[in-house]
Amino acid sequence: MRRTSFVTLIFGFRIFLQLLPECSPADPDSIPLLETPPADTDPPAPRARAMGPRHSKRLSDDTSTPSEDSAPRLRGRKASSISVLGRREEVLVSAERIRRHAVRHLGYSTLSLAMRALDEVPVELWELRELQKLNLSLNCLSGLPPGLGRLQNLVVLNLSGNELASLPAELGLLRNLRVLFAYRNQISEVPEELGACTKLEVLSLANNQIRSLPASLGSMRHLSKLNLSHNRIAHIPACVYAMRGLVFLHLAGNQLQNIADQIQDLVNLKILIVEGNRLHALPKALCSLSSLELLNVDFNELQSLPVEMHLLRRLGRLACHPLDKGLHIVHNPLLKPIQEVLQGGLNALYNYLKPG
Ligand SMILES: *[C@@H]1O[C@H](CO)[C@@H](O)[C@H](O)[C@H]1NC(C)=O
Ligand SMILES: *[C@@H]1O[C@H](CO)[C@@H](O)[C@H](O)[C@H]1NC(C)=O
Ligand SMILES: *[C@@H]1O[C@H](CO)[C@@H](O)[C@H](O)[C@H]1NC(C)=O
Repeated sequence: MRRTSFVTLIFGFRIFLQLLPECSPADPDSIPLLETPPADTDPPAPRARAMGPRHSKRLSDDTSTPSEDSAPRLRGRKASSISVLGRREEVLVSAERIRRHAVRHLGYSTLSLAMRALDEVPVELWELRELQKLNLSLNCLSGLPPGLGRLQNLVVLNLSGNELASLPAELGLLRNLRVLFAYRNQISEVPEELGACTKLEVLSLANNQIRSLPASLGSMRHLSKLNLSHNRIAHIPACVYAMRGLVFLHLAGNQLQNIADQIQDLVNLKILIVEGNRLHALPKALCSLSSLELLNVDFNELQSLPVEMHLLRRLGRLACHPLDKGLHIVHNPLLKPIQEVLQGGLNALYNYLKPG
């Protein structure tokens, strides 16, 4: 963002570059675990004008001079001052127009085109190779072009709340990607190529139409948080059991009938949410996950529990509120009169489960 292009200089465009002192890039460990990353809660930097003063739903068709500061004008751009240049320069100028809406935020080059009713992404966007965070959420995008693969510096990509039926294979070219949000779309297929994004730490594909995931995703060894809630998954995809770095696994609102013994391979798992599925039993293997702090099996068809449950020492208690640590186990047709035992807390439950 510190570069001024030659075109910018010729036309004496205002310099929209951030002249603020550069912050050091966020520590990788500080990458958010939740869907709202810390970067998004900070007020915009004083000189940054994220989207300009207009809150137009569409990118404006306005054709006024490029030096006027407003929302990016990407459609019907006026070429009078630009026509003296060749086509390549025109593209450059357009990309410049979008570029000036990018801001430097916590050391990242960031652009938000969220909530603009976009049904396609302006092609000029794919020229902004320096972008590190891109928010295209809450639009009407039904597809993404291969050009996306050019933004190889992207670290955070937010595609949530669109109408995507699939994700482009070119996502696999984004080797620096650490956070990908694609929740609330219509996605039924996830491309095998996504497995090449081995730096990915947070992946949310919640609220889609996913039934399975490609085996290649098993190579995401740095993935610590995976949100697959509210999809159509009947069996936890094999690749999930290979994601050894997982700390958080959200599978609520699927059609799960079982959890395989390989769950024991997820030794770092602290939070497992399988609420609202069709589980009839939990595997004994689950009880070896000694890091587990929150286990939510509410609204399933559990009739019994493994007697080894007491090995899950970090669960600590029966939880009431949705985000509380502990064991969540309401609304299951437990065969034995466990309900009364539950009044006595987790220890009472464990005693009850003990054979003899
Ligand atoms: C996972 O996705 C669901 C559905 O969109 C959402 O309600 C939940 O907050 C997400 N969980 C986390 C911790 O991001
Ligand atoms: C993604 O977009 C959603 C909806 O606009 C927002 O709530 C969330 O904070 C965004 N996250 C990132 C990383 O941009
Ligand atoms: C989109 O993401 C950017 C950067 O992550 C953030 O500043 C902005 O608040 C987000 N916008 C919405 C509407 O979520």
